[in-house]
Amino acid sequence: MERLFNDPKAEKIREAKKGVSEIVDVVIADSVMAKNLVNITSYDFYTYTHSVNVGILSALLAGALYRRSAAHDLHELGAGFFLHDIGKVRVDPAIVNKQGALTEEEMEQMRSHPCQGYAILSEAGELSEECRIIVMQHHERQDGNGYPKRLRGDEIHSYSRICSIADVYDALTSERSYKKRFTPFEALMIMKEQMIDHFTTELFEKFVLLLA
Ligand SMILES: [Fe+2]
Ligand SMILES: [Fe+2]
Repeated sequence: MERLFNDPKAEKIREAKKGVSEIVDVVIADSVMAKNLVNITSYDFYTYTHSVNVGILSALLAGALYRRSAAHDLHELGAGFFLHDIGKVRVDPAIVNKQGALTEEEMEQMRSHPCQGYAILSEAGELSEECRIIVMQHHERQDGNGYPKRLRGDEIHSYSRICSIADVYDALTSERSYKKRFTPFEALMIMKEQMIDHFTTELFEKFVLLLA
């Protein structure tokens, strides 16, 4: 992941996809192990561990939903989940790593990472359009208040909706220099009570059951 984030070229993306394939196999075969993996990495260097956590949690949810369907390529999807924030490599690192609140201008730059990520994957030509859509839409919200396109409801691809639940959950349960981490229970309560408009309710409920 680190090599890929330093230089997101086609061959590195291919390499990451191979590694991700193996992790997806583990996640699908053993969800307890997957949850442990997420707990261990919640403390560590943020973007890399965040990518791994969101990849694992999304693959867990996608696996529960699509395991029996041949219409979904979980390995390909897994790569999209792991790489959802790849666009951050094109945002000023001072902004990505800034402690505390961003100015409106910095926020604007930060909000470009889904489009930048889409562009990186398009240029590399490695992953499917579905993967690129995950990257592009992972900050869209069910109620239409997300970004970059303010899509709402069914306009958001179900793969992206999976990724956005895992993304928010991992952000809440991770320790950052400027904030404490919430426990898994607290994070799920915050998502349910304060953020439920961001997600598809059935997907969120499925996610809760998976972590229970
Ligand atoms: Fe993101
Ligand atoms: Fe993220």
